[in-house]
Amino acid sequence: MERNKGNHKFVSGFSKKTKAAKIAWVTQHFAEQEAAQEVLNAYSHADTSRQNLHDDFIENAVANFYLPLGVAPNFLINNKVITIPMAIEESSVVAAAANAAKFWSTKGGFHARILGVEKVGHVHIIFDGDTAKLQHFFEAHKEDLIRSTEAITQNMRSRGGGITAVTLVDKTPLLAGYFQLDVRFNTQDAMGANFINSCLEQLAASLQELAKQYSPFSKAEKEIEVVMSILSNYVPNCLVEVSVSCPVNTLLETPEESTLFAEKFVQAVRIAEIEPYRAVTHNKGIMNGVDAVVIASGNDFRAVEAGVHAYAAKDGSYRSLSTATIKDGVFHFSLTLPLAVGTVGGLTKLHPMVKWSHELMGFPTAEELMQIIAVAGLAQNFAAVKSLVTTGIQQGHMKMHLLNILNQLKATAVEKKAAIDYFKTNPVSHHTVTALLENLRAK
Ligand code: MEV
Repeated sequence: MERNKGNHKFVSGFSKKTKAAKIAWVTQHFAEQEAAQEVLNAYSHADTSRQNLHDDFIENAVANFYLPLGVAPNFLINNKVITIPMAIEESSVVAAAANAAKFWSTKGGFHARILGVEKVGHVHIIFDGDTAKLQHFFEAHKEDLIRSTEAITQNMRSRGGGITAVTLVDKTPLLAGYFQLDVRFNTQDAMGANFINSCLEQLAASLQELAKQYSPFSKAEKEIEVVMSILSNYVPNCLVEVSVSCPVNTLLETPEESTLFAEKFVQAVRIAEIEPYRAVTHNKGIMNGVDAVVIASGNDFRAVEAGVHAYAAKDGSYRSLSTATIKDGVFHFSLTLPLAVGTVGGLTKLHPMVKWSHELMGFPTAEELMQIIAVAGLAQNFAAVKSLVTTGIQQGHMKMHLLNILNQLKATAVEKKAAIDYFKTNPVSHHTVTALLENLRAK
């Protein structure tokens, strides 16, 4: 078949096809259909019950897409030592986390505390009538609205969670007729997305029903329009703060080196506080650690990413999420992150690697998991900025990337060993690795 140029034919009823038929259809777009099928086959689990589990996670599954799962040991967090599971493809991330963990393990470790666990969602409504009447209606029926969710919230309430507040917010200065039911939640150890959305949809239905029966409303006012009911991934009151600190002069080998390093480090973080171009990359380094643990723990990294970056821009300019200071001879480095994650529900009991990761972390509560994730972010940020202000990032990064280059160039085990030895003392680049292999192969 002619090489695929990315112009596929429309297909109808695709999701209803058998898996084999889906694979046959999709692989016809490859120059070598059999080889393409073989790749899918190789990345499907031999044990059909395991594969079926994965196939059931999403629609139209044709194989699995693996990420390496690494472990970063020696994290001392609030005086307990844990090993953190990290699912990530970037070569240097786990190594950097492990280095930072070891570095801080002899300096008091990481301190972590929860600043809040509030989640939030909204029923977005359009009401074109008398605002005062709507406010009276809301006050008169607020308890009825909450009561209408009781069947949904029963289990969560028995675990100490549930709806913690409902308010009517007038947004008409921003958009004609726009009001919100702003609903706050405590979802205990669940991330809570399904719970929150179910509550919101019930509140919306009850709101419309009660409005129809509210006699002070005119006929038109009785028809409140619900635009949508959805949780917000912006969770500025679901916060964790993590930090490390130690006397400046104990940071590196000598007091002189240490002072220079601490000052440069603080300056680098200040630049990320005031310069959005740098802040984005600085925060990306934090998210290297955060996302890896969020994924390994079966949580929604898109939700976390969206919420974290909104939080980084909360003052009107995109800023560093971490801060560094030197005060009275002590170096302080801290990070505050909004993290809505769960340790029950979702994939936590379903995905074998997620289950495994939770067991490795000692079956954390959601609050403990928030702390572990934020620590991985701070560790990663520390390692990145430390490299940037000392050796530069490429030395460590390329060392870790060496195996990728060797694999790309199809190096044998013997060649890999020789290359690893050689590059202990020589700079790694695609060019230098190619040259070394050519040299070895010419012998
Ligand atoms: C690379 O994945 C992350 C860094 O760019 C982060 C940073 O610059 O702070 C190294």
